[in-house]
Amino acid sequence: MYAAFRSIGSYVPQNILTNHDLEKMVDTSDEWITKRTGIKTRHIADKDETTSDMGVKAAQKAIERAALKPQDIDMIVCATISPDYFCMPSTACMIAKKLDIANIPAFDISAACSGFIYALATAKAFIESGMAKNVLIVGSEKLSAIVDYSDRTTCILFGDGAGAAIIGATDKKEEAIIDVNIAADGKYYDFLITPGCGTNKPCSEEVLKERECFIKMKGNETFKVAVKTLTNDVNEILEKNRISSDDITYFVPHQANYRILNAVASALKLRDDQLVMTVSKYGNTSSASIPMAINDIYEEGRLKKGDLLLLDAFGGGFTWGSALVPFSPQN
Ligand code: ACO
Repeated sequence: MYAAFRSIGSYVPQNILTNHDLEKMVDTSDEWITKRTGIKTRHIADKDETTSDMGVKAAQKAIERAALKPQDIDMIVCATISPDYFCMPSTACMIAKKLDIANIPAFDISAACSGFIYALATAKAFIESGMAKNVLIVGSEKLSAIVDYSDRTTCILFGDGAGAAIIGATDKKEEAIIDVNIAADGKYYDFLITPGCGTNKPCSEEVLKERECFIKMKGNETFKVAVKTLTNDVNEILEKNRISSDDITYFVPHQANYRILNAVASALKLRDDQLVMTVSKYGNTSSASIPMAINDIYEEGRLKKGDLLLLDAFGGGFTWGSALVPFSPQN
């Protein structure tokens, strides 16, 4: 059996946080944010809207577009760094409950912004080994809950949202996901970190006072490693599979910063119409950014059966991953 990328769905919360709103919160400017990141707006979930609520809305679209019912799903993998609950239960279990699905495996993956590609690799492996037939993978993030809105170096970057896909079994090789590569290097663990509230530094008054339960980032150092790693990673997967960048219909990278995306796209000598860029409207939505971007080109009518997607992500850990994915809806 091979694994095919059958369908896509996403959910974007209604509330919008603009650069001008942020100017009133921290010492920053629309000009600085636009020039350094390309971000203009990000969407923010309601107070009582959870990561699983958003994941469910994205999942419902993906399930419907794959012409399946929730009960046809035989595994749920949710990539997130902003789970509904600290430690347990997993957000995947909450998604299963809200979709009214039971008695199937459901678990979370923690790989920061590379989470969706890690979930894709997991789904592919389970399907190819015969252990699953219709896997729901979700990338969902309520980053606004773990961002420090008094820290101008991080609060301008992140947004909320969710994306989901159905990865299904097929015996047709031409429909199959060609390759997925995932990797990590823990020596950079403190470049992107939430230092407090884990077992390393359990929740305490001091942790809360130092705001250590929020994301901290060494932005400039992360930027340099990200550009190099993302470029090497996509070159490797293309070379390994003897595919030229010309053969790619769309390059869908993790949406962190337009400067990173442009640097990687120009190293690959991609045309403008191949690069999918949504960072200006959604900001960085971590594990949700790639499926949200795929959903945008799908809803714009630009994504067609047989189109070849090149996915590429980099995030905290550091983790990274790339994938060569034909879009293979069943109809
Ligand atoms: N507004 C105004 N000035 C600011 C702001 C702000 N919001 N933030 C920082 N500055 C200042 C800094 O204090 C610094 O001032 P100084 O020169 O007086 O010291 C100056 O701007 C430059 O700061 P840098 O950090 O060097 O700015 P840089 O050009 O690197 O841009 C950014 C920062 C946007 C964060 C960039 O480094 C970046 O995008 N990094 C990579 C992010 C990434 O890829 N993350 C991985 C995925 S995320 C995940 O896994 C969850």
